[in-house]
Amino acid sequence: MRVLILGCGSAGRRHAANAKLLGHEAIVFDVDEAASTRAAIALSCERIPTGDGRPWACHPDAAVIATPAAVHLDDAREAVRRGIPVYIEKPLGIIEQLAEWEALATRPLPSVVYVGYQLRFQDQAMALRLGAVGNRVRGASFSLACDPRQWRGLRATYADPLLECSHEIDLARWFGASDLTSADVREHRVVLGFGSVGVDIDWRAPYAREWRIEGEHFKGRAHFDRPEALGEAMYLDALSEFFAAQAAPEHRSRAATLADGIEALRLCAEIRQLKAVD
Ligand SMILES: NC(=O)c1ccc[n+]([C@@H]2O[C@H](COP(=O)([O-])OP(=O)(O)OC[C@H]3O[C@@H](n4cnc5c(N)ncnc54)[C@H](O)[C@@H]3O)[C@@H](O)[C@H]2O)c1
Repeated sequence: MRVLILGCGSAGRRHAANAKLLGHEAIVFDVDEAASTRAAIALSCERIPTGDGRPWACHPDAAVIATPAAVHLDDAREAVRRGIPVYIEKPLGIIEQLAEWEALATRPLPSVVYVGYQLRFQDQAMALRLGAVGNRVRGASFSLACDPRQWRGLRATYADPLLECSHEIDLARWFGASDLTSADVREHRVVLGFGSVGVDIDWRAPYAREWRIEGEHFKGRAHFDRPEALGEAMYLDALSEFFAAQAAPEHRSRAATLADGIEALRLCAEIRQLKAVD
């Protein structure tokens, strides 16, 4: 498959390398000529010059959108319009675009749209979920402390910290919780309840991730003290599910869909509307 990678920052380069590892052809594009040149040289892949401004003219079979969240929407629309399967890095977009994303999803889509909530593919997340299967879950909690200002690249400058940290919100939903039942919103921290599942996100504290789940006959915990400890395999697994879904659309993937991405965006919009108490 010819896979167009939009955005050659840390996420785009990783997806391009993984697409190649999975036996596909990666074609990279970036509004920053130097970024796409670096990626094309490092990965020995085709590059669309920035001046062309028409990345879609390369007739890709699939696309990965790995640009900053605020600019995902236009490319996603174009991929859907062309019936091209598209994998969109998380978060899907920004809160102000919620209605436009919902409009995009109202008709049956001509192609697969997956969203890069790849923590679902992380080993310990899988183990916790498997442990919960057939067990009555008494409670679970997903906590994340992470300061997006420490990240590199453009992403750090205009990222919405809540959306950037929304992986845990997706995990809570994926673990079976549905509606938001409680929310304590503070300036840099939100503590949420989805029934018996709790989510605690703090975007000013030093990095730490802690997930716990307790069922009738099962207790599990995973702790990570640096992002690298989560492992790289989850990115490859998530992307391979995306490619598998095209070969067999009936395949029930663990990957997050457009509807999941919209739900995370909607929940973040709801949380944002609640008044911070400090
Ligand atoms: N799921 C995860 O674990 C994970 C991890 C890292 C990043 N991300 C997400 O991936 C996305 C990119 O993050 P990053 O860390 O690679 O950011 P980055 O700032 O390192 O790279 C973004 C790149 O996109 C380019 N770009 C900007 N606008 C563009 C446009 N209109 N067309 C083409 N290229 C454009 C920039 O020049 C830059 O090279 C963000 O949405 C981020 O939240 C997800």
